[in-house]
Amino acid sequence: MTHDGEPTASDAVAELAADAMALCADRRRAILGIAGSPGAGKSTLAALLCRHVARAWGRDAIASVPMDGFHLADAQLHRLGLRNRKGAPETFDAYGYAHLLGRIRYEGDVEVYAPGFDRQLEQPLAGAVAVPAATRLVVTEGNYLLHADLPWRRARAVMDCVWFVTAEHRTRLDRLVARHVAFGKTAQEARDWVAAVDERNAELVSATAGAADRVVVNGVHGWSVSP
Ligand SMILES: Nc1ncnc2c1ncn2[C@@H]1O[C@H](COP(=O)(O)OP(=O)(O)OP(=O)(O)O)[C@@H](O)[C@H]1O
Ligand SMILES: [Mg+2]
Repeated sequence: MTHDGEPTASDAVAELAADAMALCADRRRAILGIAGSPGAGKSTLAALLCRHVARAWGRDAIASVPMDGFHLADAQLHRLGLRNRKGAPETFDAYGYAHLLGRIRYEGDVEVYAPGFDRQLEQPLAGAVAVPAATRLVVTEGNYLLHADLPWRRARAVMDCVWFVTAEHRTRLDRLVARHVAFGKTAQEARDWVAAVDERNAELVSATAGAADRVVVNGVHGWSVSP
């Protein structure tokens, strides 16, 4: 709280973290999904939740498993003729993602490893994320957690709850362009990529927001929950 009693952005994140932790109350391990369009702030929110929960329960109590780890490698995208569709639903190993979430859910007595996504290489990286046996809350985030097609539905079925992150359109685009530039694209290449690839995917993702359990707004003045 500020001294005049107004809630602050970090209060909102603390509340979201408390809600996420409450999912574990009646389960040995809970899986929270965070969906949202490219650049909306899914990874940022997952990292904030991880920090809060790790502080409260210890580092091994929470793990973040990105759907992005299931991007097909460029070699496969070339083989399938999908290189310029990167980030579209068909450019992910969605069955692999659903299967791994199932292992995380049902093989809680062993450490499970998940792939990550290397933004420098723009490639998935096997074994980048550990889910220790002690983990109580698993946050998994990505574009297509609420997609209606079969492999995605199978992944969704393993999650206890899914939140949808939104951000104002212009802010989201600016952040996406800035991130592409930070990882090596020129400003023009970044704008072209966002317009041709990311925004096409964003339309598909935003159409799934209605299936979320809660909408979280990543606003310019901080995080809040949509009423
Ligand atoms: N509230 C915020 N304030 C400042 N920068 C932010 C905020 N939220 C996100 N960003 C920045 O915007 C960019 C996109 O955020 P983030 O990577 O969390 O989005 P995402 O939904 O995970 O995107 P993608 O689908 O591409 O993985 C990042 O560079 C991040 O640091
Ligand atoms: Mg992300």
